[in-house]
Amino acid sequence: MAKLPIHGVHAPGLTLFLIFLQYPPLLLALSSSCTIQTKHFINCGSSNSVNYFTRDFVGDTSSDSVSFSEQNTSTQSSDQLSSVSAIYDTARIFRSPSSQYVLDRTGKGTHIVRLHFFPFGSSSNLSEALFNVSVKGLTLLSNFQVPSSTDSPVVEEFFLSISRARLVLRFSPQGSSFAFINALEVFLVPDGLAPYYAPNLRTTYRINVGGGEVTLANDSLWRSWDPDDDYIHVPNAAQNSSSYESALHYQDDLDKCLASELVYQTAKVMSVNFTNGQLYRNTTWSFKVSTNARHLVRAHFCDFVSPSLNTVYFNLYSYDNFSELIDPYGKKVFRQRLVPFHYDLLVKPGSSGLVKVSIGLLNTSMYQQAYLNGLEIMVIIGSKDSEDDNQNKHVSLMIGLVSGSIALLCIFGSAAIFGCKYRKPKRADMSVWTPSPAFRGGSKPTEQTSHGSVASNFHLGLTIPLAEIHFATNNFDGKLLIGSGGFGNVYRGTLRDGTKVAVKRSKPESEQGFSEFQTEITVLSKIRHRHLVSLIGYCAERSEMLLVYEFMEKGSLRDHLYNSDFPFLPWNQRLEICIGAARGLNYLHKGVAGGIIHRDIKSTNILLDENYVAKVADFGLSKLGPLDQSQTHVSTAVKGTFGYLDPEYFKTQQLTEKSDVYSFGVVLLEVLCARPSIDPSLPREQANLAEWGITFIKSGNIEQIVDPVLAGQINPNSLRKYGEVAEKCLQEEDKERPSMRDVLLDLEYALQLQQTTAGMDICEMSISEIFPR
Ligand SMILES: *[C@@H]1O[C@H](CO)[C@@H](O)[C@H](O)[C@H]1NC(C)=O
Ligand SMILES: *[C@@H]1O[C@H](CO)[C@@H](O)[C@H](O)[C@H]1NC(C)=O
Ligand SMILES: *[C@@H]1O[C@H](CO)[C@@H](O)[C@H](O)[C@H]1NC(C)=O
Ligand SMILES: *[C@@H]1O[C@H](CO)[C@@H](O)[C@H](O)[C@H]1NC(C)=O
Ligand SMILES: *[C@@H]1O[C@H](CO)[C@@H](O)[C@H](O)[C@H]1NC(C)=O
Ligand SMILES: *[C@@H]1O[C@H](CO)[C@@H](O)[C@H](O)[C@H]1NC(C)=O
Ligand SMILES: *[C@@H]1O[C@H](CO)[C@@H](O)[C@H](O)[C@H]1NC(C)=O
Ligand SMILES: *[C@@H]1O[C@H](CO)[C@@H](O)[C@H](O)[C@H]1NC(C)=O
Ligand SMILES: *[C@@H]1O[C@H](CO)[C@@H](O)[C@H](O)[C@H]1NC(C)=O
Repeated sequence: MAKLPIHGVHAPGLTLFLIFLQYPPLLLALSSSCTIQTKHFINCGSSNSVNYFTRDFVGDTSSDSVSFSEQNTSTQSSDQLSSVSAIYDTARIFRSPSSQYVLDRTGKGTHIVRLHFFPFGSSSNLSEALFNVSVKGLTLLSNFQVPSSTDSPVVEEFFLSISRARLVLRFSPQGSSFAFINALEVFLVPDGLAPYYAPNLRTTYRINVGGGEVTLANDSLWRSWDPDDDYIHVPNAAQNSSSYESALHYQDDLDKCLASELVYQTAKVMSVNFTNGQLYRNTTWSFKVSTNARHLVRAHFCDFVSPSLNTVYFNLYSYDNFSELIDPYGKKVFRQRLVPFHYDLLVKPGSSGLVKVSIGLLNTSMYQQAYLNGLEIMVIIGSKDSEDDNQNKHVSLMIGLVSGSIALLCIFGSAAIFGCKYRKPKRADMSVWTPSPAFRGGSKPTEQTSHGSVASNFHLGLTIPLAEIHFATNNFDGKLLIGSGGFGNVYRGTLRDGTKVAVKRSKPESEQGFSEFQTEITVLSKIRHRHLVSLIGYCAERSEMLLVYEFMEKGSLRDHLYNSDFPFLPWNQRLEICIGAARGLNYLHKGVAGGIIHRDIKSTNILLDENYVAKVADFGLSKLGPLDQSQTHVSTAVKGTFGYLDPEYFKTQQLTEKSDVYSFGVVLLEVLCARPSIDPSLPREQANLAEWGITFIKSGNIEQIVDPVLAGQINPNSLRKYGEVAEKCLQEEDKERPSMRDVLLDLEYALQLQQTTAGMDICEMSISEIFPR
């Protein structure tokens, strides 16, 4: 049972409630292994019980769970005893057009159903049987025939959702032919083994990647797993590897049933490798499947590869156009190694008839390993494909879903997490960041990771040795601390070549911290713009996650608006700062990298350099549009900051470019009114800046909320225009909000209106001075 602890979080004068939906702590014992309660093993066409791999297959003529019309079914025995098992010495034969074979007392829920076929020599040639098998109108096998040449049994496996505690198999011979079956397995498996959106499946491949065959004796659900070597594209691109550690850290009972432990203890591991002059950054497996059917692809992982936490991250791809960042350390209570988990992908192979799965290295020098432990490919049966096509094109491509992974469903008020990110700076000369093309420190950066593996030529040129950062920050001297928060600390520092830097040091092993670190590097290595901070470099040695930016002399925009000792900014300058930030944001949304959503726009994330040029900072929460396929991605964590958060988010759980526009609207009001977006010390109706401000703008009383120090400075037309922009940005419905480009144009116009009148004033004044009356 999930429980709902409620945490009250205190920010100064403000209490927010975060509700976490958590899985029970690991301590609440998990059962020791995957156990199956309700199970039926039937030896067809026989009255004998046969033991086969720890299971008793009960003869169907003596089982009281099985029923069928005696008429027109018969039994058949082999002339020769099978070398595999006695269950293959007999078969039940069906000759009438639609024969039912009924199994009672199955239990309700998802079952694994296995049909065993092994044509043996006898009076009737079983290889001539040609038939269909169906359940409730769901065709399991059609025009099915088992070649006589086969020297091992053919076992067809299905996942079927059974609602009536009774399985009715219908055998339909084609024309004058007949149907047969040697043995039947039906057992209830835990819910979730087949995903809710694909309850009925037929297994086509089950692969133990990087290891040998795992037989049914070594799998709690009697599955067998084949080696992957026949399916890998470039055999040398990845190596077989097996774990020295055998204790797996299961995070939930279901996971224990998902695969054999042996599958999790072997993997194919890849790292950057030149083979035959070719550089491989990914390893691909492909499987022949039936064209146009939808498939569930389940990729199994268990990290025994990384030497310590947070050292291996990589991508999982399907074809070349879907990717998912694999974070192997578990999403629940504790992060650790050796956690078995899986990803499910929904794949429609189209006319290619191939399912392709790849693992790929990230495009950073930090994480240069990837691995895969197991793969299962299953056809989804009983769904109408054409229907799906019309419904939802993108869904028919694929959905990425993590195994029972909802760690944390934060329903409301991420302010407590993000809002206190920056402590108010202590002195006037601080804060963060500015662009610089590459690391310019005293020593040449080298590739070092915590486990001492050496140089790859493919780093971004952005890695900075830890030693250099220790030098720059005087070993993270407390006196150089300029900001801190949930993610860690920010230090001021100076590199050997004199470059002033800000160093963001994430708390080690913070889950949030890592993904933000990752995102920030990914985003910042893609883009460069005058109005976006960019990275000088980063460092991921030992357990450190460090981001190095050029120092931003004037701190954050908020520092210049309220609660600080900085001189007040004149209106022109405020407008220019807003315009700069709008340019940066517009570039994120529409620039070359395209489609990046910042997701955490606020006045503390707009920084000023020594010339008061505004730069958007802190990309830790950004979403990369094109890579992300957020439409199909199930994302549960609340992002952004309370007080700036798009109201649509509460309805749709989606942040879009228009969410950035909303947050920017809040910043515009902050700039105008010089007050925080949430001020809990004010009466309720005034506490939220966006709500409060907008009522004044709508009623034509905008001048009443203007920062008093600006009194008389603002040209009324400029002010009206500005109010208009803010109001548009703060529309409830995202469709009604302008694009950042339109916001930018309007702000530029507001600046023009301001400058024109200012110019006229000066002009008038000088005329009167030159020609005194
Ligand atoms: C049984 O099979 C025979 C042919 O083998 C067929 O003539 C007869 O109609 C079948 N009976 C039923 C009830 O299906
Ligand atoms: C059984 O039938 C199959 C398919 O029709 C045929 O290839 C095979 O030779 C037959 N075997 C015997 C023993 O008749
Ligand atoms: C078997 O299934 C195929 C394909 O679904 C269908 O065309 C055929 O009519 C079925 N045969 C019988 C005997 O039901
Ligand atoms: C990996 O292991 C399997 C099973 O032991 C073996 O068949 C295969 O040749 C190995 N592949 C490589 C690349 O070493
Ligand atoms: C696999 O199962 C067999 C039979 O139960 C057992 O002897 C063997 O030790 C198992 N292998 C592993 C690696 O557990
Ligand atoms: C690179 O590939 C070769 C085979 O082409 C293999 O022997 C070698 O171990 C691989 N190196 C690494 C680091 O994976
Ligand atoms: C994998 O690498 C090959 C070339 O080495 C490249 O063509 C392909 O696009 C890559 N696939 C992915 C998913 O990155
Ligand atoms: C991804 O690749 C598959 C197979 O090549 C193709 O059918 C599908 O349309 C592609 N999807 C996108 C979004 O490009
Ligand atoms: C990887 O990084 C290099 C160097 O920055 C860049 O040239 C290349 O385009 C990147 N590749 C991808 C797939 O993003």
